Amino acid sequence: MPTILDGASIAAAIKREVADEVKVLAARGVRPGLAAVLVGSVAASEIYVRNKVQACAELGLYSDLITPEPTVTTEEMLELVDGLNRRDEVDGILIQLPLPAQVDAKRLLDAIDPAKDVDGFHPVNAGRLQAGRPALAPCTPAGVIEILERSGIPMAGAHAVVVGRSDIVGKPAAMLLLHQNATVTICHSKTRNLAEITRQADILVAAIGRPGFITAEMVKPGATLIDVGINRLNTREEFDRFFKGNAKREAAFEKRGSVIVGDIDPRAFEIAGAYTPVPGGVGLLTIAMLMANTVRAAKMRRGL
Ligand SMILES: NC(=O)c1ccc[n+]([C@@H]2O[C@H](COP(=O)([O-])OP(=O)(O)OC[C@H]3O[C@@H](n4cnc5c(N)ncnc54)[C@H](OP(=O)(O)O)[C@@H]3O)[C@@H](O)[C@H]2O)c1
Repeated sequence: MPTILDGASIAAAIKREVADEVKVLAARGVRPGLAAVLVGSVAASEIYVRNKVQACAELGLYSDLITPEPTVTTEEMLELVDGLNRRDEVDGILIQLPLPAQVDAKRLLDAIDPAKDVDGFHPVNAGRLQAGRPALAPCTPAGVIEILERSGIPMAGAHAVVVGRSDIVGKPAAMLLLHQNATVTICHSKTRNLAEITRQADILVAAIGRPGFITAEMVKPGATLIDVGINRLNTREEFDRFFKGNAKREAAFEKRGSVIVGDIDPRAFEIAGAYTPVPGGVGLLTIAMLMANTVRAAKMRRGL
């Protein structure tokens, strides 16, 4: 039977450690703080930001939720970021994506002080990560490493195949695995013979954004499967493709009208050595890592 890498318990352990660190910092008069900027009313973004602000409260961090008008301009957003860069009680700045079309997201993310870039998206942090210098690493890939490390999955010498090369998941995940001494292959939409490569993976990280794209035939039996994908299945046809006859999922689909599937076909999990479920895997680590990054930023900025 494959081992289920339970994101909930790992995220809870990280949050406990963060809360302990917050207490230690409080004794030194430091309270790490996060400013979250949410523009517009994308339902998923509202939920994500609410959860992030709530996590701050739970762990003892200061937080400030800023909600500019949906008509806000790039210039106004740049001014806002400039103000946050200057505020001493703000250690982390999070700009929830996506932003409205009129806002130049790249310019904005580049304007965040790299020392407060807790999402780890700033080119300076990407460069530091690559150069093996202290950096704020993007939360989701950092969570992937935490899952592997805390589950005792050996990374050194393992062949890690990362499918996906986005700046926020695939590339940093590959870099972090490399720093753990894995032998890393990065695949993408132009990769030839993808299945041949994925079948060589001891650790397979899927960050593609396509439901159940990695099938059982693409997986080496006994491999560790890390599924970063979050894809919503809204139709009966899509549901049946992956979950026909699955009573638990059926109940969820009936109740909500949709279910979530990752980038790995759930049938591939059956031949894995270990895997992260979706939901309940990597996704749960992201907020925990954001909290950890905010505390880290608070310490780094003060030389602690
Ligand atoms: N908190 C979380 O758990 C979390 C956070 C972020 C993202 N996600 C999820 O992770 C997934 C990936 O997110 P992302 O932001 O990295 O997506 P993205 O920016 O769309 O990148 C997708 C990557 O997959 C590659 N790809 C697409 N089709 C492919 C194919 N047929 N064969 C091989 N590679 C292919 C693309 O290759 P090219 O570069 O060649 O186009 C690209 O590099 C999504 O499901 C997203 O929802 C989860």
